[in-house]
Amino acid sequence: MTLAKKSSALASACLLVVGACAQSTAPQWGQCGGIGWTGATACPSGWYCSVSNPYYSQCLQGTVTVTVTPTTSAGGGGGGGTPTTTASGGSSTLAPGYSFIRAVEDPNFHKYLQSEVLNTASDAVLGSPGTASQFQITGGQLIQNANGTPLYAVVESRANSTVMKLKMSWSTTPTTAGTFVFSGDTVEWSISTIARPQNNAWLVCPDAQGHADVYINLGPYSYQTPAGCADETIHAYTGATATARRDIDDSEN
Ligand SMILES: *[C@@H]1O[C@H](CO)[C@@H](O)[C@H](O)[C@H]1NC(C)=O
Repeated sequence: MTLAKKSSALASACLLVVGACAQSTAPQWGQCGGIGWTGATACPSGWYCSVSNPYYSQCLQGTVTVTVTPTTSAGGGGGGGTPTTTASGGSSTLAPGYSFIRAVEDPNFHKYLQSEVLNTASDAVLGSPGTASQFQITGGQLIQNANGTPLYAVVESRANSTVMKLKMSWSTTPTTAGTFVFSGDTVEWSISTIARPQNNAWLVCPDAQGHADVYINLGPYSYQTPAGCADETIHAYTGATATARRDIDDSEN
């Protein structure tokens, strides 16, 4: 059991003992918000309430109010506010606080991250702008907003040290394995058990049906690329609508 789960279990236990444990402040690592949450929404001094997804906010150590902040103005997905808007694969306008995520290298230039079966827990793929999904990264989780339901990016575990690419898919439950961040507008993934030369290296490899499946590249970018795969980096894009255009503003994205 993680410390976070332990703390929220304690908080729940407190609710059962009326009066004995009246809490106006959530415990360290405890839940402090989310749809349906009726408990404390304040965090202890030196802690802040971080929105993990529409259904769960958690007290984290620190004083900032967002967990992930792009370091460039072109950067994507704020970690902040509670999402109030639904955003789904195929929706045309970006919801507040969300980013599209897209590749910027051929042969996948300006193809957008989404679910293979739109808005469902299925393989992570790159597809057309018209079906682009919308994302946030908070608390180390890459979260797809699928019609208001969060889908979490899950990276398969490494079977052995000869495996050099790890498949990514979407799950209805969060994962504790690995950490996603926006570095500027670039999506990176790391995990304590694997030393990666580049946390921003991705591979896109077509499956048997031709879907552009997305993988973590455990090796260096553009070196010993597996047969059939293409090296990619993937980036937040916060234009109002997903576009395949190649224009001046997009020259670095
Ligand atoms: C490593 O894992 C892969 C994928 O499961 C498997 O195909 C391969 O045979 C394994 N190699 C070794 C040396 O165990």
